[in-house]
Amino acid sequence: MDGKTDGQEEKRGGKLRLGVLVSGRGSNLRAILDAIGAGRLDAEVAVVVSDKPDAPALRYAEGPGAACAVRREDYPGANEFEDAIAAALDERGAELVVLAGFMRILGPGFVRRFAGRIVNIHPSLLPSFPGLHAQRQALLHGVKISGCTVHRVDETLDGGPILAQAAVPVLEDDTEETLSARILKEEHKLLPETIQNVFVRRTGRPSCRNAE
Ligand code: GRF
Repeated sequence: MDGKTDGQEEKRGGKLRLGVLVSGRGSNLRAILDAIGAGRLDAEVAVVVSDKPDAPALRYAEGPGAACAVRREDYPGANEFEDAIAAALDERGAELVVLAGFMRILGPGFVRRFAGRIVNIHPSLLPSFPGLHAQRQALLHGVKISGCTVHRVDETLDGGPILAQAAVPVLEDDTEETLSARILKEEHKLLPETIQNVFVRRTGRPSCRNAE
């Protein structure tokens, strides 16, 4: 985070303003809001941006102007689409961009614009199983431990520097659904905790823990 962000945080009583990008269910967004409500995360959700107007996640956006749908189909090209997302984030003063189940790859222009200020949650222990269906990939490979990762977003697919991970054992009789559900439980703890540790408290301390 740069010096400008420090100033902004001071003005707003230390609350980090989050712009959360979603495409679907929104349970990670819900976990962020729960952590804020419980005083575990000194942040506020300034805006929720979805590429799908009917994403259930949008129902969690609180306050006027907090929910914003930016549909890819409404823009001629990827650049225009991403400019519209960036404008929504800038308008609401988002300092950190959180990809919480945002199912699109953001281009280099967007990544550069928010350099060092984008994080993603992914349901595997990266660098294993980037991309779609990470839990299915883990089962197909027969790994015995999987988990989830919070990482900084760079121009590669799920390849940016890792900030924190949580390990989840893969059980003999796991299906994609049961494994996904156990990993998701850990995602809900790891994402708010990492935002707090790395971007609010700025310990910059990577974390690694096992599921209880
Ligand atoms: C999560 O498993 C996340 O790791 C992945 O997409 C899923 C989103 O779930 N990137 P939700 O919308 O937060 O419930």
